[in-house]
Amino acid sequence: MAKLVHAAESAKYVGKEVTLRGWVYRKRESGGIVFIVLRDSTGLVQIAVRKDAVDEASWKAAEDTSIESSIEVTGVLKQDQRSPTGYEITAKKFANVHIAEPFPITEYQSPELLLDKRHLWLRSTRMTTILKLRSYVFRYAREFLDKHGFYEVTPPLITVAGGETGADLFEVNYFGEKAYLTESSQLYVEVLIFALEKVYSFAPSYRAEKSRTTKHLAEYWHLEPEMAYYDINKSMKLQERLVSYIANKVAEHEDLLKVLNVDPAGLKAIKPPFKRVTYEQAIEIINSKGGNLKWGDDFGVPEEKMLTENEEKPIFVTDWPRELKAFYARPNPKDPRTVLSDDMQAPHGHGEIIGGTERVWNYEELMQRIREFEQAKGIKFNLENYDWWIDLRRYGSVPHSGFGMGMERLIKWLLNLDHIRDAIPFPRVINRLKP
Ligand code: 4AD
Ligand code: MG
Repeated sequence: MAKLVHAAESAKYVGKEVTLRGWVYRKRESGGIVFIVLRDSTGLVQIAVRKDAVDEASWKAAEDTSIESSIEVTGVLKQDQRSPTGYEITAKKFANVHIAEPFPITEYQSPELLLDKRHLWLRSTRMTTILKLRSYVFRYAREFLDKHGFYEVTPPLITVAGGETGADLFEVNYFGEKAYLTESSQLYVEVLIFALEKVYSFAPSYRAEKSRTTKHLAEYWHLEPEMAYYDINKSMKLQERLVSYIANKVAEHEDLLKVLNVDPAGLKAIKPPFKRVTYEQAIEIINSKGGNLKWGDDFGVPEEKMLTENEEKPIFVTDWPRELKAFYARPNPKDPRTVLSDDMQAPHGHGEIIGGTERVWNYEELMQRIREFEQAKGIKFNLENYDWWIDLRRYGSVPHSGFGMGMERLIKWLLNLDHIRDAIPFPRVINRLKP
């Protein structure tokens, strides 16, 4: 039996008989030879099936095969400059595992069709490359936190307590009771620092916001570290090291980045420290570029672009107005107008990749913030749903900070993608629930 190998191992097996399994990427026939380019998870390799060199069944299979059919080939590998992959397998045996129907995706297709046929489009070189890099980004994020003494923890995703504004939640019928898909696991990771001190959750978050932008998903992957005894400055130092670590490690994948036209040098240059501007300074920068913001306004897509278009590294925006951040954000003791908070903005207008705060850890102060929140929003806070979280401020409370990083936002920036939906295999956006 010939050895079962992958396309990317071609160089290692020149002169040897090998077997490969894959899918038909290209096919053409010329003068008694069928040329097939086989695609597998590692890359491409050309196969030549010659009528006079194979048995009848193999020849028929080669003639019958079609784009995206699943195939198996056995033959001798050789180097060949004429092959588009640099290597060619002279087939001894060729078989279809399954013959594909005419493939619905051809060369030029609308973005809408590619989304409808997402389950097939994910096989493309572009999507395969993004999927690999996404997997690496997830790996490096975990690797960094694991190396720095964090425990990974798993929060529930069905909850009664929303973390943020409470307005953007997907409702779930929980055995007749009203529940929600979580929009942040923060409240649960806060619980777990009292057991494990430094923790992170890596899970989806759900936002029912109706934003139709290139940066919003209804379901996204959210990395949420939470650290006992960290103030906001220590948390920001951790954030910039985490992001730099991931960017620098991704930069090592030069072959993959080349497919997406991303220059690894730019990613290698991402190093701490990142620039820090206060919210007030950010407003000045934005207004000097034609923006029209006043104290208390949030940033939209155009403002984020004005702020970061000339940056090469992410920047922090700190000291946000207290009314713009959630009830758990700790007021700034030096300036009661603001809370101890940071947003990390990616360069070139890719948007906010991290939101972080130092948390209110004093019971009285938390109740005060909640009353303030109720007044500002004109709603009644359902304390019953949060009593467990409020309890943390009653039993051995400690100062602490944490942050949330949107993985698809991070990937969109690192890989310079036009739209966040390509950063995730099955995007959930306002008008799409399938596939
Ligand atoms: O700024 P956000 O809303 O902060 C929180 O949820 C905090 N509770 C996190 C924490 O402190 N543990 O969200 C954090 C990040 C944003 O900076 C952004 O990167 C991402 O989550 N994000 C989204 N990503 C994709 N689609 C959306 N609709 C997103 N909304 C937020
Ligand atoms: Mg935010």
